[in-house]
Amino acid sequence: MDAYLLDWVNLLLRWAHVIVAIAWIGSTWLTGFALFTVLYLYQASTFLIDKSVHAWSPAAAIAAALGFLVVFWFVYDAICRMFGQRSSGDRVVGALVAGFVVVASWLACQLFAGRAAFLLVGAMMATAMSANVFFWIIPGQRKVMAQMKAGLAVDPVHGQRAKQRSVHNTYFTLPVLVAMLSNHYGFLYAAPNNWLVLALLMLAGALIRHAFVARHKALVQARRVPWEYAAGGVFALLVVVVWLAPVAQSRSVQSAQAAQVKAVSFAEVRAVVAQRCVMCHNEQLASKNLQLHTPALIAQHAQQVYQQAVVLKLMPLNNARRSPMPSARCSGAGSRRALRRTERIDMVSWFDRPRSRSH
Ligand code: HEC
Repeated sequence: MDAYLLDWVNLLLRWAHVIVAIAWIGSTWLTGFALFTVLYLYQASTFLIDKSVHAWSPAAAIAAALGFLVVFWFVYDAICRMFGQRSSGDRVVGALVAGFVVVASWLACQLFAGRAAFLLVGAMMATAMSANVFFWIIPGQRKVMAQMKAGLAVDPVHGQRAKQRSVHNTYFTLPVLVAMLSNHYGFLYAAPNNWLVLALLMLAGALIRHAFVARHKALVQARRVPWEYAAGGVFALLVVVVWLAPVAQSRSVQSAQAAQVKAVSFAEVRAVVAQRCVMCHNEQLASKNLQLHTPALIAQHAQQVYQQAVVLKLMPLNNARRSPMPSARCSGAGSRRALRRTERIDMVSWFDRPRSRSH
């Protein structure tokens, strides 16, 4: 539980850190996000696809991921064009765009590995932010300048449109950042209904952003500063904190379970590692510089293996499994659990008997 809260502190601090950094550095950060996407697309079968979420070919997954970026922009842009200039258009546009982001988050989490889905939703909004700058904000300013130079009356619509898009960009910033950062936290993206986790985090970001905007306005107009929005954002975060808190099942309960099942031999654990880990952790391909293809290596890295596979449930990455899988062992296939119950109990029982760790 302590470790869980520490993870939250870690995430919230990072988020604050990046927000502060951006406030000072300016707006050239957008290109960075494209790089992330490229990484994921390039290694699609490892990072983009989780077969227990949706089993499809890398080519189809890549095409769909790119589709998210493009379709989001066109739909968002159409919403702004259609409703933006009407009376109370800002509210209608805000509600429709927020709803569309939630739908996109849901869909991304049905199609892609959780980690990739969170990143993709962030990238999708960041793409719209850049497109706003290039297709509306800068051209709008140019038109105004040209009209002024030519001594013509300035058409206010260009300024209005540019303003609308830059307001959207400020509201997108915090949700984009938390979507990108949260993809480093397995307990968020691996949660059941992870799309709702993402939606709540982004909602918190938008509300907190709105609190700053409202505070500024209130100060300028010498009114009471409305703190309800910030409180709402914090509440959304608390909902996620409480919702995802680990059920208090201590190691001793787990090991009692394991003891009931059987004492596990090292050979059995080695078999699990061979099937679920070695394909990405061997001499040729040592992900994160970790090799697990010999008994000595497994014993040497026992603590890390236990931490990643049993406690954090982050490994095997995206529930990878070496095919073909023995039919007798596929009872849990299709579940989103990283390791199946039997495999995990094997690991717990192995780790809890230090003398069995290496032989
Ligand atoms: C599909 C490939 C794949 C499989 C299968 C896989 N891993 Fe990994 N593993 C990775 C990658 C990639 C990283 C680096 C992740 C990162 O940088 O965020 C990694 C990182 C790790 C780390 C280091 C984590 C850290 O941040 O220090 C450990 C420990 C680990 N894996 C253990 C395992 C174990 C145990 C299994 C089997 C139960 C396993 N892995 C299965 C790809 C895989």
